[in-house]
Amino acid sequence: MAVTIKSPREIERMRKAGEILAKTHDELAKHLKPGMSTLEIDRIGEEIIRGYGCIPSFKNYNGYPASICVSVNDEVVHGIPHPEHIIEEGDIVSLDAGVIYEGYHSDAARTWGIGTIAPEAQRLIDVTRQSFFEGIRFARAGNHLNDISAAIQKYAESFGYGVVRDLVGHGIGSHLHEDPEVPNFARKRKGILLRPGMTLAIEPMINAGSPEVVWLDDDWTVVTEDGSLSAHYENTVLITDGEPEILSLI
Ligand code: MF3
Ligand code: CO
Repeated sequence: MAVTIKSPREIERMRKAGEILAKTHDELAKHLKPGMSTLEIDRIGEEIIRGYGCIPSFKNYNGYPASICVSVNDEVVHGIPHPEHIIEEGDIVSLDAGVIYEGYHSDAARTWGIGTIAPEAQRLIDVTRQSFFEGIRFARAGNHLNDISAAIQKYAESFGYGVVRDLVGHGIGSHLHEDPEVPNFARKRKGILLRPGMTLAIEPMINAGSPEVVWLDDDWTVVTEDGSLSAHYENTVLITDGEPEILSLI
């Protein structure tokens, strides 16, 4: 599939999808507390999304059984909410969600600490978030995709962290996953030329230790191979003829 340029009408819908997702994350974060299950987090998140009249895009996507991916500690992404998975003080919890508004998608992830967390855990969360912002400094028409990827990698690795290679960001629009792939690490080719109207889900997944990951037997949950902590931060971003517009952040 070719990389698409969104029309003003499509962009308007993606803006709305992004705004609702940003609000969903902010509201959902307020509910997080030690002792709750990851399934409760999913239930609350789904209710918030549906309360805005939107569809949670992950539900039943390729068979994924929930609306919110909840990934705790060494879980990198795509954790499946479960009634017996209880979050505890000191945990770090990555929440990834998608919203469909009038046929258009937004996709965003945040990582939160539960109660008081170790300083190393907080640093991983902060660096992962900042690596996204280092990347989007290059999300401008005239640059190439690899400029974004390389900036994310350079920043995260300068802290000794492992940048996950086996999963990447993606184009987004009337489908959750569109071309191009958006790696969080440099490739030999410079990648596509960025043009106004392109929409990208940029999503660094950063491990405190090695970049290697493995899939659990549920075929969804991705965990760090070495058991180290992992954090995830993602937004849906519009390339413009000036500054990039972060659609899923308010
Ligand atoms: N944000 C995730 C991604 O871009 C979407 C997960 S799809 C799901 O990879 F099915 F796991 F929900
Ligand atoms: Co995504």
